[in-house]
Amino acid sequence: MGNCKLLVLLYLFSTATSLTISRKLPDDLVLATASSSYQIEGAWNEDGKGESMWDRMVHTRPDKIVDHSTGDVACDSYHKIKHDVELIKSMGLEQYRFSISWPRILPYGYANHINLRGVQYYNELIDELIANGITPVVTLYHWELPQIFQELGGWTNALIVEWFEQYARVVFDHFGDRVKLWITINEPKQICWFAYSNGSLAPGLEISGIADYICARNVLLSHARTFHLYKNFYQSVQKGKIGITIDCPWMEPATNSTNDYKAADRARQFDFGLYAHPIFTPTGDFPEIFKKFIAERSRAEGYQQSRLPSFSENEIRNIRGTADFFGLNYYTTSYTKDRKPHPIGKPSSLKDSRIENYKDPNWLIGADPSFRSVPWGFRKILKYIKQNYGDPDVFITEIGFPDSEKFNDTKTVKYHNDHLNELLDSIQVDDVKVKTYTVWSLMDVFEWMRGYTVGFGLYHVDFQDNNRTRTPKLSREFFHTLTRTRTVMQEI
Ligand SMILES: *[C@@H]1O[C@H](CO)[C@@H](O)[C@H](O)[C@H]1NC(C)=O
Ligand SMILES: *[C@@H]1O[C@H](CO)[C@@H](O)[C@H](O)[C@H]1NC(C)=O
Ligand SMILES: *[C@@H]1O[C@H](CO)[C@@H](O)[C@H](O)[C@H]1NC(C)=O
Ligand SMILES: *[C@@H]1O[C@H](CO)[C@@H](O)[C@H](O)[C@H]1NC(C)=O
Repeated sequence: MGNCKLLVLLYLFSTATSLTISRKLPDDLVLATASSSYQIEGAWNEDGKGESMWDRMVHTRPDKIVDHSTGDVACDSYHKIKHDVELIKSMGLEQYRFSISWPRILPYGYANHINLRGVQYYNELIDELIANGITPVVTLYHWELPQIFQELGGWTNALIVEWFEQYARVVFDHFGDRVKLWITINEPKQICWFAYSNGSLAPGLEISGIADYICARNVLLSHARTFHLYKNFYQSVQKGKIGITIDCPWMEPATNSTNDYKAADRARQFDFGLYAHPIFTPTGDFPEIFKKFIAERSRAEGYQQSRLPSFSENEIRNIRGTADFFGLNYYTTSYTKDRKPHPIGKPSSLKDSRIENYKDPNWLIGADPSFRSVPWGFRKILKYIKQNYGDPDVFITEIGFPDSEKFNDTKTVKYHNDHLNELLDSIQVDDVKVKTYTVWSLMDVFEWMRGYTVGFGLYHVDFQDNNRTRTPKLSREFFHTLTRTRTVMQEI
């Protein structure tokens, strides 16, 4: 790194009136970065790849994406394996988390036809990472459902448990000899709530309070089935670990009133508890308060039974304890207030939860108002996970901030520095077992409904340029320095 950039970094952490101290990262904390298949690969119809629900949505509903863009080419990473691995290696990062596109290796969804050219792409990527001393972390599902299954109802069809297991078997068979860290499913809330309730992610449905709950049930059962598949048939030979990644924002009560405390608890259960509680608590089931509020409102609306489908005893036994680690994606925090019941009408999960979330306008803001830097919220969610989910090993599988500056992303640098300080307090003071810190994202990518309008990347990507040129940002220099010094600065 040039002296000039070092000076900028130092400048960021020292003002005329404050001093800084430096703090060492624990030796066993792994520094990593991440991406996902649809967001970077491009080559959407090359070499025998099948159509995914994202391909279908961006081609038929461009209005769903703010800049009407697609992931057809994205970062063109399908053609840039060596270059991308070099970008990771040059920063000194130890792990790379990426996902496999289901329709790239199974173009028709089912495992009857395996696309060997798709398999070859992931083989080359995995081999190149390992040859460069970078550990691959593979997500099986980062939202690329084969379109045929979407037409059959996608995550609301109970058969998805079988479809997903067949796909997982192909993945473990082909890559499990070299991949030792597996994430079954990325971000159930985004899969179920944003896609079936809020309508902003593919398939873009708005059947709130119904489809999102059916989806949650099927996501948990698919995850559990895949976990047992790996445990029973692969783990003794392949010796890897397997878990799930859940996006957990922190929800802070807006006031000290009992009602707001209860509302913040409900907000957590309706946001991430519905996924984490069944897997990481001995109950093996949805949280009680979540079940109660949905059941009561369903009754008031005249439904014969709760809109939330329940689990059988057998399903509960199967879901309980199905993770070797807690994969946490953390971005931001909200305040939560209690609210009066909505009038009876069309059902929705927001009405079921009876909460209202908002952000403090003083919190540091990025390129998108929903992302605010709230470092203390990060420490609180980590403590919450330790206390409520059996003190698991925590892999932070994503954390990041979209700066409005293209290259000189000083806010993103500040975000990571502040969050790393909180992380040190979590580990050293709260005794949370955090093992990995994974920056979202390696480079600017197709950010789903935000298209190319926000960039979390350590590298800027020029999406106007056919070669999709990658240019390091200041945050890339920050992490390059961090991997060498393993030291973060704290203002005192
Ligand atoms: C989806 O969420 C966004 C952001 O939270 C919100 O602006 C929008 O109104 C929501 N849409 C629906 C249909 O709930
Ligand atoms: C809640 O109580 C704590 C300590 O009792 C206090 O520090 C904090 O300011 C109070 N918060 C609000 C929003 O009143
Ligand atoms: C980057 O931004 C910081 C803070 O806004 C500013 O002090 C610095 O001069 C900028 N550096 C460059 C190279 O533009
Ligand atoms: C395009 O990018 C590759 C790296 O992927 C680089 O090696 C090559 O020089 C670039 N070509 C041009 C014309 O910029």
